[in-house]
Amino acid sequence: MSLVLCFPEYREQARRMADAAGFSSADVDIHHFPDGESRIRLPEKLPEKIIFCRSLNQPNEKLIELILAAATARRLGAKKITLVAPYLCYMRQDKAFHPGEAISQRIIGELLAGRFNSLITVDPHLHRVHNLQQAVPVAQAVTLSATSVMAAWLSEQLENPLLIGPDEESVQWVAAIARYNHLDYCVARKERLGDRSVRITLPDGDYSGRHIVLVDDVASTGRTLEAAARRLAPYKPATISALVTHALFFGDAQQRLHRVGVEQIWSCDTIPHPTNHLQLAELLAGAIREK
Ligand code: R5P
Repeated sequence: MSLVLCFPEYREQARRMADAAGFSSADVDIHHFPDGESRIRLPEKLPEKIIFCRSLNQPNEKLIELILAAATARRLGAKKITLVAPYLCYMRQDKAFHPGEAISQRIIGELLAGRFNSLITVDPHLHRVHNLQQAVPVAQAVTLSATSVMAAWLSEQLENPLLIGPDEESVQWVAAIARYNHLDYCVARKERLGDRSVRITLPDGDYSGRHIVLVDDVASTGRTLEAAARRLAPYKPATISALVTHALFFGDAQQRLHRVGVEQIWSCDTIPHPTNHLQLAELLAGAIREK
């Protein structure tokens, strides 16, 4: 039987997953020294199969701690170590966009693959690389999708909404959710002008009086959703909502969205955030039961 090891900031979600799978769980104890270093402590007696559960938003310190934890688990006798990282970091920098840039996806992927036997994640942002194992070359790489949970949630919220993906890459999620619930959907075009600046062009259509739901995998600065909502406003839709998998929502992203008329923001609990209305414990539990 595997033991789930939980990190402090994701303990609640990790325990829910362990409980749903019928696995026991224990805490990873972390002490932060004044100089910024971390001391990791695991339970002294470990079974051969260990599952670390930690979501990798704000990843730099978390990655170092994970590496320390995985190495310690091996020393204490773990033979098979799985990482459940519902949000997987560094997936967007999948090429050198400018000469001299690090291809972070590959570097971080190799770092994780050197320490973990398996990886389970949710809707990773794979763009030019189509397969998780190409990005993180572990022996077993499992990609789960939150779209079934999102579709089930949405069916309880709104009558016949129109789903809009804000950019071409979002089509995979928006189409999947639309398919589950037999809904209309369309996809906008996005030009990224900078970290906090995007231009959205909506496809021709009549959005007036509709319940619109903007669907995306990641909301980071929220500017993508904000620009889409601004474009929609002149059509006077009945409501605008946002449904996202990974709620990074930096700074005032959430307030900005409300200011442009986004009434409801719903996200999955891959990243702890006040908008987490959707729990993925059962989805993740199904995957760890098979490890
Ligand atoms: C990228 O293409 C993703 O799917 C999201 O659209 C993007 O990460 C959102 O970023 P932001 O919220 O900063 O506009």
